[in-house]
Amino acid sequence: MEIVTWSKSYETGHPVVDGQHRNLFKLINNLNLELLDKESNQAFSDAIEILSAYVGTHFKTEEDLMKSVSYPDFENHRQEHDNLKEQSEKLIKLFRLGKVDLTATISKFLSDWLKNHIQEIDKKMIDWLKGQEGAN
Ligand SMILES: [Fe+2]
Repeated sequence: MEIVTWSKSYETGHPVVDGQHRNLFKLINNLNLELLDKESNQAFSDAIEILSAYVGTHFKTEEDLMKSVSYPDFENHRQEHDNLKEQSEKLIKLFRLGKVDLTATISKFLSDWLKNHIQEIDKKMIDWLKGQEGAN
């Protein structure tokens, strides 16, 4: 079962950013598949490592892009990225301690965050970028 399904409403119009967002959707769906397999915390753990690494790459791509054009809302946007990293690290730590089953919470949290972030924050950034290109 897919926890996140790609649709046009997630497109920002920036091919690199959109490509990475699509991959994030795939990785979150993968993670969600692993959590259905209750026997395998290891697989979930591996999937979360892969996803975290990709999130790091993706945030860097966006942050480099924003810096390269002196995006005025850069600090806020980066703060959003940092908050996500912080909150997910906390959840993952708790998961690894194994006290409660957090797998469903983690994949729900990540998918909700990603959907909102793309539709609000990333779109705003790319719209601004397009406006700048149009002005030149
Ligand atoms: Fe972003």
